[in-house]
Amino acid sequence: MKNITVIGTGYVGIVTAAVFADLGNRVIGLDINEEKIENLKRGIMPIYEPGLEEIVCRNMRAGRLSFTTSYAEALKECEFCFIGVGTPSGVDGEADLQYVEAVAISIAKHMTHPLIIINKSTVPVGTGDWVAEIVKKHQPSPIPFSVVSCPEFLREGSAIADCLNPHRTVLGSLDREAAEKVAQLHLPLRAPIMITDLRTAEMIKYASNAFLATKISFINEIANICEALGADVKEVAVGMGYDKRIGPQFLEAGLGYGGSCFPKDVKALAYMAAEKGRHPQLLEAVMAINNDRRPMVVNRLKEMLGGDLRGKVVGLLGLAFKPNTDDMRDAPSIDIARMLDENGAIVRAYDPVAMDAAAAILPEVKMMPDPYTMADGADALVVVTDWNEFKNLDFERIRDLMRTHVILDGRNIYDPAALSELGFRYRGLGRGYNGARVEE
Ligand code: UDX
Ligand code: UDX
Repeated sequence: MKNITVIGTGYVGIVTAAVFADLGNRVIGLDINEEKIENLKRGIMPIYEPGLEEIVCRNMRAGRLSFTTSYAEALKECEFCFIGVGTPSGVDGEADLQYVEAVAISIAKHMTHPLIIINKSTVPVGTGDWVAEIVKKHQPSPIPFSVVSCPEFLREGSAIADCLNPHRTVLGSLDREAAEKVAQLHLPLRAPIMITDLRTAEMIKYASNAFLATKISFINEIANICEALGADVKEVAVGMGYDKRIGPQFLEAGLGYGGSCFPKDVKALAYMAAEKGRHPQLLEAVMAINNDRRPMVVNRLKEMLGGDLRGKVVGLLGLAFKPNTDDMRDAPSIDIARMLDENGAIVRAYDPVAMDAAAAILPEVKMMPDPYTMADGADALVVVTDWNEFKNLDFERIRDLMRTHVILDGRNIYDPAALSELGFRYRGLGRGYNGARVEE
């Protein structure tokens, strides 16, 4: 059993704290947001994430997990201090490190004994060295410490499972002994552990996220070509995915990537390259392809509705940037809803969990209690998030409720032939052959 502190109780922080407590350690989660901490103490989670509440509450009851806003209390007995605060995009795409800096200063001021500081947030290459300098500079008197980078690879919606069953643990440090100690903490997760230097570990995170984003933009480019040539990208991806060198994952064409990581991480990596005089040609293309997806969907809908969206009632199936989360950060739904509204459409939406979070961002959108109420009198439904519960809707009922029978499937979750047989005008993205057939 080790004493661990996790600073930041956002996605990365709360999941890290819960999982290390579950592995039998004593963990304190710290956040500067008092309301979040008060809620956590009462078992109220800051985010919607399957399985999170159960694991947090179980470990709180067992006395292994507690929460505080006090650095003095959090660092008193701590041996390992994880940093998991946000690193949003700055104005030019660079990562904004003000939160990491604030945490480093607070650690420096409150540490009373040697510590291993472990950074989990995605930070620009070189940040680990910078954190070490800040801590040194702000310590009232010198106390030894080490900085280790341990990037997080969890996906929202399956964060607990990803954290408990990682594909690998990457550790980077100039202090091999400290990295070995952090490796020990991760042994129960039974994943391969790689120890490298700080900057390389930081780069592995960016390179991994940029590669996955590239896969998505690649398949979206193929989707465009499929449409032009009359092929179905969904089948193309299945056929490609059987090749083990390619793999089936992250080949779903559609509205492109959103969320708190891919958009900002690809941007930040491109920024880091450009800053050093390198031309990140591939990353620029990845971003450009992704940026085209949202307006493309609006234009396609316009086309399907006779060239004019004014007065048309459009229902969005899904708002969150992906299923199983209420996270609206850089969700394609935001741009799509706004563009539809600017084009004069009347926009409705239904999402199983993200409507509260979305209402504050999208006041122009009318939130609906379920897909059927939303379909009543609607001209078109647009699939924005591939929630499982949308996959088996009663389309006969929906057809009878809608005014015009248009379905634009931004995530390619439906069978084009089945919907066209029911009398819908259906289009997906990149489904040339099927799309052409049902359009006839
Ligand atoms: C994380 C990572 O940190 C980011 O680098 C990665 O790319 C995406 O995931 P996330 O957990 O989603 O970010 O961040 P967020 O949900 O914004 O949570 C950060 C938490 O840190 C907030 O609760 C905030 O109150 C807290 N915080 C912030 C502090 O406790 N101290 C600070 O000084 C700043
Ligand atoms: C991602 C990484 O997967 C994770 O390892 C990293 O640490 C944080 O960023 P997350 O943003 O939670 O996780 O979601 P992910 O499942 O990767 O999806 C990101 C976006 O890509 C979503 O908007 C999703 O809809 C989109 N996506 C994903 C596609 O458009 N097609 C795909 O095939 C896969």
